[in-house]
Formats: sequence, structure tokens, C-alpha cells
Amino acid sequence: MHAIILVGGRGTRLQPLTDSRPKPMLPILGAPFLEHQLLYLKGHGVTAVTFACGFLPDEIRSYFGDGERLGLELTYAIEPEPLDTAGAIAFAAREFGLTDRRLLVCNGDVLTDLDVSELIAAHDAHDATATIALTPVEDPTRYGLVRTGDDDEVLAFLEKPTLEEAGVDRYINAGTYVLEPEVFELVPEGARVNIEREVFPKLVGRRLHAIGFDGYWNDIGTFESYRRANADAAAGRIAGIAPSERNARRWVSPDAKVASGADVGAGSVVLAGAVVEDGAELIGSVVLEGAFVGREVFLEDVIVGEGARIEPAQLVAVGDVIGPGVGSTAR
Ligand code: GDD
Ligand code: MG
Repeated sequence: MHAIILVGGRGTRLQPLTDSRPKPMLPILGAPFLEHQLLYLKGHGVTAVTFACGFLPDEIRSYFGDGERLGLELTYAIEPEPLDTAGAIAFAAREFGLTDRRLLVCNGDVLTDLDVSELIAAHDAHDATATIALTPVEDPTRYGLVRTGDDDEVLAFLEKPTLEEAGVDRYINAGTYVLEPEVFELVPEGARVNIEREVFPKLVGRRLHAIGFDGYWNDIGTFESYRRANADAAAGRIAGIAPSERNARRWVSPDAKVASGADVGAGSVVLAGAVVEDGAELIGSVVLEGAFVGREVFLEDVIVGEGARIEPAQLVAVGDVIGPGVGSTAR
């Protein structure tokens, strides 16, 4: 099966972490998010992936290349300008002659272990035009709410609904779809089209189906969810991402330098090249590549950007995000 992964978004909610690298390249433990997603898709029978790229495509292309290392056939469609979700999918499909077949489409920021084979089986069982994977969330206002009726047919798709609009419904679009070629008829060539607001609502009543999943699901697109993704991975809560130490609930790269008197506590992740000095204490915090955390620094729910420097005993507020290179003279 051929998949298209949407990786062209600007990652605005994660700025400044996404100023110089695209959101899908942010690390979850020792590898970029996308590497985990590619291996997950491969495990579900995907053999080829086309990236629908926009913002900073070269960061992705130079890292993964043609996919040989991962045993996948990788291609890159680069939009001349942001075409939005449906526009980007259609552009990538047309660019590589994929509009004649069924495609799996994934958002490039969702960490999940949902069962793609089950999604495809549901799609087949309904002979659907498109099938949307759903996941339950507490607050649907950040997502695309999907209301279903008999036989899992979609009755309504409401992108970023208000709480009133959502009512008691909590199942949202998990960002993974199976699409049949007919879907592309709704997307004129070169047009900027949003799949959530313009395509799915139009497909309601035209064999648009959905299927709910209860496994792990997390859109890493905010500071809080990005931190949680790392903590969950470190705790071994995500099938397919093995933490290095069993029951440690933390993860330290073998290429980081953590002093023996430093306390890297639960939910914390320290990446390659980072230094954590004696007496520093980390709870639920992520220290990105090459960052420096001085003596007696206390970090709770903090993200320290790549190459940033926190001086000994410097006070950092709970939940802070320190931008890449901040505090470093070698900026
Ligand atoms: N190539 C390309 N071009 N990709 C894009 C563009 C574009 O113009 N705009 C967005 N993307 C990509 C992003 O990189 C991301 O992988 C995906 O499309 C979704 O965009 P987000 O900006 O992350 O959307 P969201 O998180 O607010 O909402 C989406 O995901 C939710 C689940 O996490 C929607 O699909 C919701 O319906 C869904 O519930
Ligand atoms: Mg998102």
C-alpha cells in the first residue's frame, strides 16, 4: 500500500522549536518523530510513502533520502506554495501518478499505534469512498469532530467545533484516512483546499465512513503534547517505541553527558550531545540536542531547545520553553 504523509505545515504552535526544523523532524527519544511513523507504517504493510512537503522540505529529504535504510520507497512532492491539506494530498498524488489507486493518508504529527489493517478492513466492509480513523478526546475543540450514525457512516464533520457544537460527542478525526480516487474529483488542480472543512463535509452522504480506535493517540503539535509524547515513549506506553531502560520512565541518550549527581526524573528525556551538570533536577522535561543545563538548575515540564544554555542555578519557570541556541554565545 502507498501512503501519503502530510508534512508541509509551518508548526506554528511549536515555535521557536520549529523555526529551523519542521515539526515532523522533532525528536521522540532518539529519532525524529517521522522515523517512528515510517516504521509504524511499514509494520502495517506500507511499502511506499510520498511526503507532501511544504515548509523546510530539505531537512526531511536529506535525512531519509530514498528510504533504502528503512526498507521503504520514499518520494517527495514539494508544493510551490502551501495548498492546505487536500490540495497537498492531491498535488502529491498527481505528481507521482497515484490518483488511480486507493491511498492511505496520514497527518505528519500524530503519534499512534492505531491498527491500519483494521481501518482498511472497515473501509472494505463498507465499500467506502473514504474512511476516517477516530479517537476519543476530552476536549474536541482543537480537532475535527466526527459524528457517526448507523453502520459507522459519517453524519457530520466539524473542524475545530465550539464546545456547544460538539455537545456530548468526543470522537475526533485521528488524522489517518483511506481515500479512494473519487475523492480527488473534489480537489481542482493547483487549488488550495482544506480536506477537513471542504472535502469531508461534501462527502457526507456519499459513503464516507469512520471507525473508532482506543489505543495510544497524541498529536505532538503543542508544547504540552510534545513533552507528553516523549514522556509516554520513555515510559514504554507506545507500541513500537522501545524505551532503553525498562520501568525507568525516563530516557537519556547514550551520547548525552549527565553527571552522576544530576537527577533526571520521571518523564524526562535528554538527547544526544546535551550536558546536565551535578545537582540539576529534571521532572517531565525534554532537553534537546547539544543543550546545556548547569549545576543546581531545576526544570519542571520544560523544553530546552537544541544548543540552548541554562546557566548554573538559573531560575526557569515551570512549563517554560527555551528556544534553540538561547543563552549560548556560540549562537
Ligand atoms: N503539505 C502540506 N501543505 N501540509 C500541510 C499544510 C499544507 O498547506 N497544512 C497543514 N499541513 C500538514 C501539517 O504538517 C500536519 O501534518 C497536517 O497537515 C495537519 O495539520 P495541523 O496543522 O497539524 O492540523 P491540526 O492538528 O490543527 O488538525 C488536524 O489534525 C487533527 C488531529 O491531530 C485535522 O486533521 C483535524 O481534523 C484532526 O482532528
Ligand atoms: Mg496537528
